[in-house]
Amino acid sequence: MIALLLFLLLGTLLFWFIKHQYSYWNRRSFPCDPDTNIPYGCLTSVVKHEKSMGVALYDAYVKAKSPFIGIYLLFRPAVMIRDAELAHQILIQDFTSFHDRGLYLDEKRDRMSCNLFSLRGQRWRTLRQKLTPTFSSSKLKAMFHTSDDIGDKMVEHLNKILPDEGRAEVDIKDILVTYAIDIIGSVIFGLDINSFEEPKNKFRCLVRQARRNNLLMLIFLCPSVAKYLVRLGFKNKTAIGLREILKDTIEYREKHNIVRKDMLQLMMQLMNTGKIAEDDDNWSTKANTTTGEENEFTLDDIAAQGFIFYIAGQDSTSSAAAFTIFELAQNPDLLARAQNEVQEVLARHNGQLSYDALQEMPFLDLCLQETMRKYPFPFLSRECTRDYTIPGTQHVIEKGTPIVIPLLGIHRDPHYFTNPMIYDPDRFSPSNANYNPNAYMPFGAGPRHCIALRMGKINSKLGLVKILQNFDVEVMGKREIIIDNHSAGIQPKGGVKVRLSKRAKPCH
Ligand code: HEM
Ligand SMILES: *[C@@H]1O[C@H](CO)[C@@H](O)[C@H](O)[C@H]1NC(C)=O
Ligand SMILES: *[C@@H]1O[C@H](CO)[C@@H](O)[C@H](O)[C@H]1NC(C)=O
Ligand SMILES: *[C@@H]1O[C@H](CO)[C@@H](O)[C@H](O)[C@H]1NC(C)=O
Ligand SMILES: *[C@@H]1O[C@H](CO)[C@@H](O)[C@H](O)[C@H]1NC(C)=O
Repeated sequence: MIALLLFLLLGTLLFWFIKHQYSYWNRRSFPCDPDTNIPYGCLTSVVKHEKSMGVALYDAYVKAKSPFIGIYLLFRPAVMIRDAELAHQILIQDFTSFHDRGLYLDEKRDRMSCNLFSLRGQRWRTLRQKLTPTFSSSKLKAMFHTSDDIGDKMVEHLNKILPDEGRAEVDIKDILVTYAIDIIGSVIFGLDINSFEEPKNKFRCLVRQARRNNLLMLIFLCPSVAKYLVRLGFKNKTAIGLREILKDTIEYREKHNIVRKDMLQLMMQLMNTGKIAEDDDNWSTKANTTTGEENEFTLDDIAAQGFIFYIAGQDSTSSAAAFTIFELAQNPDLLARAQNEVQEVLARHNGQLSYDALQEMPFLDLCLQETMRKYPFPFLSRECTRDYTIPGTQHVIEKGTPIVIPLLGIHRDPHYFTNPMIYDPDRFSPSNANYNPNAYMPFGAGPRHCIALRMGKINSKLGLVKILQNFDVEVMGKREIIIDNHSAGIQPKGGVKVRLSKRAKPCH
């Protein structure tokens, strides 16, 4: 009897709590969706696996009308910013009120959670400053040949699987994911891997595990729950495995005095000397003088950054190249322009692809820009770090509230980009430029924009050029990507299928 009463009481309390939570925006007369679904808010369809998180947020964007609205992410009230100018204000001018992402972070007990993406406040700022030189154009130039080699291995692989005569269908996304993962394994983890020939190597197997579960969403949606799970022992096996790999590689390099021009080398320099040299020829991990600078960057920190670089880098880089090929295959005139540009520039450089040659392909730049408009990572996130009155209104966003900027919605809004579903690289050409630049943020904006913007651009462009240079892409009818319901980003269901054939060797 008492048990039953207790049960009823608890049930009522829970009901009240949820009801109360879901009246958060109404109580503040903040604009919000009148028919909110209890108990998952705008993520109901995500929980039911009927939509991906990106599409659910896209739908919420399309449905609403006001420049900002209160939404519910599971139980948490959050603000969606629909207006590009307001988004800019928040990301750039008013950054000091929104400097964190509010993701799971446990600095004391889980050092591996201290990555650049999740870190907050001053710790984030310090690390960002320290890591920035790693991504300078001269450092990237020095690493170019590594990406170039991996690109060649991708071409070799395609040559193996394609028939000598005629064409065959390939999942170009899958191929480019392998390319992107090998670049990260090589440049960031210092490994000598070829996943095209050895698909079951240690690195691939480890990172493959990471793609299979949903902890990522939990880290975003319920950071405090994630924290307790980790404390209870749900340690991240992938992260631990990657740390082991790094430890071995670092020890090996130090023991044998090996200097490789890659990011791991620079992070070792940071670990041993306290900073990364501005001098582009200095890849040494030994300090000339003891500066007495406090050394807080440890092996765990290298592993945490390596891991987040893997998460942030592989899907984004491969998607940009794969979706470009997918779109070019549907637009024969654009395809011809892209192919001609590649041929012309290569002819000018004696057939040699180099970092500089890659800079001379303006049309491909437009294509990649347009791809990243139509297929961005679907949302940016911030946390309000101090009470903020939305300019020109009486509405206050309270400290601690998550902010969502639905990039997919903004990038596909006809208000900002005419005919948004039409793939039109020329909309970005300087002579045309008929779009609202504030609405275009494929790499985010403000002090927390993508730290690896250059690297992402170079590697996706390189992958694209390798394919256009060596293969013919068969033209196909118009179609749209089908987005997988289980993903956060734009994960194409069944891959990105295109038909390729070997290019007839030019006769000399
Ligand atoms: C075409 C490729 C890429 C795209 C489209 C892309 C896009 C983005 C976006 C949209 C953000 C969030 C920015 C914001 O919140 O304002 C971001 C952040 C970030 N990206 Fe990328 N990214 C790419 C490649 C990479 C690569 C290759 C790496 C690592 C090697 C990387 C590492 C990061 C990191 C560490 C952050 C967090 C920065 C911070 O909070 O300080 N990204 N990226
Ligand atoms: C996603 O779920 C919806 C609703 O259950 C279904 O109609 C749709 O086919 C699914 N899409 C994919 C790509 O699985
Ligand atoms: C480890 O964390 C990543 C993202 O941070 C996630 O994708 C992966 O599923 C996690 N792995 C395990 C075993 O929890
Ligand atoms: C290389 O750079 C590191 C970090 O800035 C510095 O400590 C070291 O003294 C430099 N080495 C040389 C040979 O200049
Ligand atoms: C570091 O040492 C090298 C050789 O020992 C020397 O050439 C260089 O000038 C030194 N750099 C600094 C910053 O002291």
